[in-house]
Amino acid sequence: MPSFVVVGQKVGTDGKYSLNDLTGSTGRLDVLLRCVNSAFMLSNDIRRNVDLYLLLLGEPDPPKSLHFSGMDLKYLNPDERSTAALVKNALMKKIGAEWVKSTPGISVAKKDLAGILAELEGRRLIYLKEEGASISDIYLKENDVFVLGGKEDLSPEEEALIQAWPETKKISLGPRSLHADHCITAVLNRLDCST
Ligand SMILES: C[S@@+](CC[C@H](N)C(=O)[O-])C[C@H]1O[C@@H](n2cnc3c(N)ncnc32)[C@H](O)[C@@H]1O
Repeated sequence: MPSFVVVGQKVGTDGKYSLNDLTGSTGRLDVLLRCVNSAFMLSNDIRRNVDLYLLLLGEPDPPKSLHFSGMDLKYLNPDERSTAALVKNALMKKIGAEWVKSTPGISVAKKDLAGILAELEGRRLIYLKEEGASISDIYLKENDVFVLGGKEDLSPEEEALIQAWPETKKISLGPRSLHADHCITAVLNRLDCST
């Protein structure tokens, strides 16, 4: 099952946002909500064989991680507003280092990037980056883990963590800089076509 890890450098961590403003005041939560849509939404179906981690690093309580498991997801709809409500519920939970279930298929924990990666031991990391090697030159595996930035790129420290992983490939989807959700769509489409 492919996994995605998306880093939201400035996305707020308190869930006290208005569903009428999902852009500016949330540190661009909208970008991550679109990643949820791209990871799971098919026309009239949900991808059950995908999972997604969102890492939120904005104020006031970073880091917080959300885990979406396609296998167990319920109540997910294509619109950003209803996904924002699910995320808001999760961010309001009292949490510690271990995952706490919020709604079916969505869990939340106080984990940073190292904490997420610790759960993915033994799997290959594909670091998506404009200046990586071409995706045409690599065979993607069903259980690869794809790591990418949200609105902003990964920090040098996050890059170093990924590069220190036992098996990491830095892969480009092309020379143009794409939106994070579009990267997810492109990768899943490629996996769809190779199986
Ligand atoms: C919106 S981009 C981040 C900002 C962007 N690098 C810029 O300079 O405007 C979000 C993330 O998507 C991934 N990404 C965007 N375009 C890509 C491409 N052509 N190939 C691989 N990954 C890409 C990278 O991980 C990037 O950090």
